Amino acid sequence: MQEEVVIRTEGLSKVFEQGKKHEVTALDKVSLEIRRGEVFGLLGPNGAGKTTLIRILVGLLTPTEGRAEVLDRDVTEDIDYIRERVALLPQEAGIYDRLTARENLVFYGGLYGIPEDVLNQRADNLLDIVGLREKEDYQVKGFSGGMKRKVLVARSLIIEPEIIFMDEPTTGVDTIGARVVRNLLKKLSAERDQTIILTSHDLTEVAELCHRVGILYQGQLVAIGKPSELEEKYRAANLEEVFTGLVTGEGVYDS
Ligand SMILES: Nc1ncnc2c1ncn2[C@@H]1O[C@H](COP(=O)(O)OP(=O)(O)OP(=O)(O)O)[C@@H](O)[C@H]1O
Ligand SMILES: [Mg+2]
Repeated sequence: MQEEVVIRTEGLSKVFEQGKKHEVTALDKVSLEIRRGEVFGLLGPNGAGKTTLIRILVGLLTPTEGRAEVLDRDVTEDIDYIRERVALLPQEAGIYDRLTARENLVFYGGLYGIPEDVLNQRADNLLDIVGLREKEDYQVKGFSGGMKRKVLVARSLIIEPEIIFMDEPTTGVDTIGARVVRNLLKKLSAERDQTIILTSHDLTEVAELCHRVGILYQGQLVAIGKPSELEEKYRAANLEEVFTGLVTGEGVYDS
């Protein structure tokens, strides 16, 4: 793994107004670095700030305070440069129901100015990998939730991005499909040096897949490191114990 830092945040905060009376601090002074080729897992309970962090890094939200850099460019200054080089698998999907599986991939890639013959070749490969080749000419409208998720995984990869943000890539995908997605992500990071930032509520998945993880709790980054380092630091048997300990305050002692 190279040491080049491709994502850097410093004191990054995001405060949302919720109606006139309420404010929510979705991110609270988060500082972290992610290096090229890493598979980095973002963990945290519902509402911890995972999606907010990803949305800031792809320019869908502006930070309230602090800095965020992707590929050495500030997200508030050079978002066009960043967007050409990163892909996002959103938590809530913007899939085109009336297009077929293949059309979804090729249409999306076309928005990046990639020629159609190149896109069709990549689509062949990606649709094979996610196991949707036989359904490629079906409208996505009739697909199950997990099948749609697979189309979106393939769609996010068709631009061959340097950095891939995947917000819950395997949620709703069956056991075998989830394994396919995990193996694909491992391969992309190992063979192509693509950097992957993913969120998941499946801690076994995260432990298997991620070189390092960051645990968010109430907007704060409460732990960051290799799963094995965190297990050692918190004297836990596995990542799930680290996580529950930090989030509930039970049974974990900071050494
Ligand atoms: N657009 C918004 N307007 C107001 N509040 C928001 C908005 N987006 C997120 N929030 C709030 O910010 C906090 C963090 O939300 P976020 O979606 O980042 O959590 P998450 O870690 O992705 O959770 P989950 O595991 O449920 O996906 C929550 O309290 C949420 O209600
Ligand atoms: Mg989320």
